[in-house]
Amino acid sequence: MARGVGMMILVNNDLMTRDQATIDIEDRGYQFGDGVYEVVRIYNGVFFELDAHLDRLERSAAEIKIVLPFTQEKLKANLNKLIQQVPVQSGHVYMQVTRGVAPRNHPFPAKTEPVFVAYTKEYEKEPSRSPGRAVFTEDIRWLRCDIKSLNLLGNVLGKQFANEQNVDEAIFHRGEWVTEGSSTNVFIVKNNVLYTHPANHFILDGITRRVILSDANELGIQVEEEAFTKQDLLDSDEVFISSTTQEVRPIVEVNGQPIGTGKEGEITLSLHAKFTSRLR
Ligand code: PDD
Repeated sequence: MARGVGMMILVNNDLMTRDQATIDIEDRGYQFGDGVYEVVRIYNGVFFELDAHLDRLERSAAEIKIVLPFTQEKLKANLNKLIQQVPVQSGHVYMQVTRGVAPRNHPFPAKTEPVFVAYTKEYEKEPSRSPGRAVFTEDIRWLRCDIKSLNLLGNVLGKQFANEQNVDEAIFHRGEWVTEGSSTNVFIVKNNVLYTHPANHFILDGITRRVILSDANELGIQVEEEAFTKQDLLDSDEVFISSTTQEVRPIVEVNGQPIGTGKEGEITLSLHAKFTSRLR
């Protein structure tokens, strides 16, 4: 079968097949990772938290001086066209915008035309929610992790390290301080208090993270957006990670050490249940 048969790609304002969608070799996204992206979950054919993701896309772009060549309204209309063409029950849409095409040179010309690409993916099976395991690894990324940049080498190497250890996630730390996962935010629970790193330049302010913090407030769980150490994490009662694709996923072992009882904790379960109830 030819690659991507049945796949439709949104390139700027046009829908096309994968073979029709071509990227210039001097696209700055390709040569410099000069662009930003989003992943939005689709549940029952409907985008989850689309506005929050599009706001974050616009913010990430603005932080690296890319002005999106369309309004959010236009982008939403295009994304709707895309899922009408290729209906998705359970999956996600990946979208990215690069600065555009220019002769290779580090500084960018005053005027380039950003290139936007989006396509959907239907999940063959639902991402695993079963209790997972993680390893610590030093956070070697740049200091603007709040920007959802296409430069993902630090994340890629982190996740690869986790894969090579046969665990599910790499938990990054800067010195003793835990920041986030290679593609997730990290939470711990100690004495019924929920802790997660504050949303500053050291982490991506996850949309799932925001939903969880609001759910925790509704459930009357005390929340502290405060950095914690690797030792705090190992000594905690519960650990979980969150992302668009992993939702709320318990982590029951880190660096071979069981967390709490070594089983998924009650607060994690209640936050997952609350998250799931939003999807109905
Ligand atoms: N990753 N932190 C990092 C480094 C991430 O890459 C992600 C998401 C998150 C969670 O953000 P959100 O809840 O908005 O998905 C935190 C996406 C899913 C990815 O790169 O595939």
